[in-house]
Amino acid sequence: MRVLSGIQSNGKLHLGNYLGAMKQHIELQHEHECFFFIANYHSLTTVQDPDLLREYTRDVALDYLAMGLDPKKVCLFRQTDVPEVTELAWILSTVTGKGLMERATSYKDKVAKGLTPSMGLFTYPILMAADILIYRSDWVPVGKDQVQHIEMAQDMAGYFNQTFGREVLKRPEPRLNEALIVPGIDGQKMSKSYGNTINLFDPPEETRKRIMSIKTDSTPVEAPKNPALCNVFAIYQLMARPEEVTTLAERYRRGGMGYGEAKKLLAEVVERLLAPARERRQKLIDHPDEVENVLVTSARKARAVAQQVMAEVRDACGLLTASVAAL
Ligand code: TRP
Repeated sequence: MRVLSGIQSNGKLHLGNYLGAMKQHIELQHEHECFFFIANYHSLTTVQDPDLLREYTRDVALDYLAMGLDPKKVCLFRQTDVPEVTELAWILSTVTGKGLMERATSYKDKVAKGLTPSMGLFTYPILMAADILIYRSDWVPVGKDQVQHIEMAQDMAGYFNQTFGREVLKRPEPRLNEALIVPGIDGQKMSKSYGNTINLFDPPEETRKRIMSIKTDSTPVEAPKNPALCNVFAIYQLMARPEEVTTLAERYRRGGMGYGEAKKLLAEVVERLLAPARERRQKLIDHPDEVENVLVTSARKARAVAQQVMAEVRDACGLLTASVAAL
């Protein structure tokens, strides 16, 4: 099974990203062949500041490696290091109806949020389909919001194969990430666009401050509390060991514990995860060549697959190209 997923490089990664996707990606490396790439072409639809885009692209690599992705086990590469994917996107766009794109809910959501409705944003699902199809991916682990995009990739594989009468592109299957609800510090879903995140690699004091500012209700210290209604507990539950979760839930129900104390306990479990990761990340920052080497070695492997598929794609549609040697 080849597992593939893309990670946008459009901001600092946060606990919501970790619990909702990264953690599953890191677990999958033990079970399957994994291709994970940093979707920097996609990020260009929202980040158009070159320094920031470079920084975010580098950060995704550092963050994933620091959190436990093993470069000996997986391919971790930049989307832009396999530029053939943009060629496939073009070819797919010629067999894909505009109506299909118009049904994309994620595009509508983004425009409703105020993003510029550029052609890049509109055809985003085509590039995403190219990402998936160019590596003959079997499984694509994604969150619920991306399932429609995977279904579109399935459709596009079908349109291509049917149009050109050959089974060149393989239909991928989505693999739904655990549907976790990770609240941000204001209680809404944790998301960069709400400014309510707890980032993975802020300075530790900042992370602690963010945790201490999680919104809670005004139940007094002595009163019993319902853990199910508390944002602090909701995050704690996703991070702590089962026996720690049981203990904290009991303390909520018993009363006599203030939210401040629960926040301190949450800060401790967050720190338990992040402290070793921070150290690994610093080591990587001190050895940028090693990180670059991981990205390049991985891209070479991924690109070999992509070039093979593209040769078949071009042949199927009758696109002639001179051999590289001749140019
Ligand atoms: N659209 C995905 C997201 O926003 C990122 C992405 C780009 C992706 N290309 C992909 C995910 C291919 C899976 C497969 O999260």
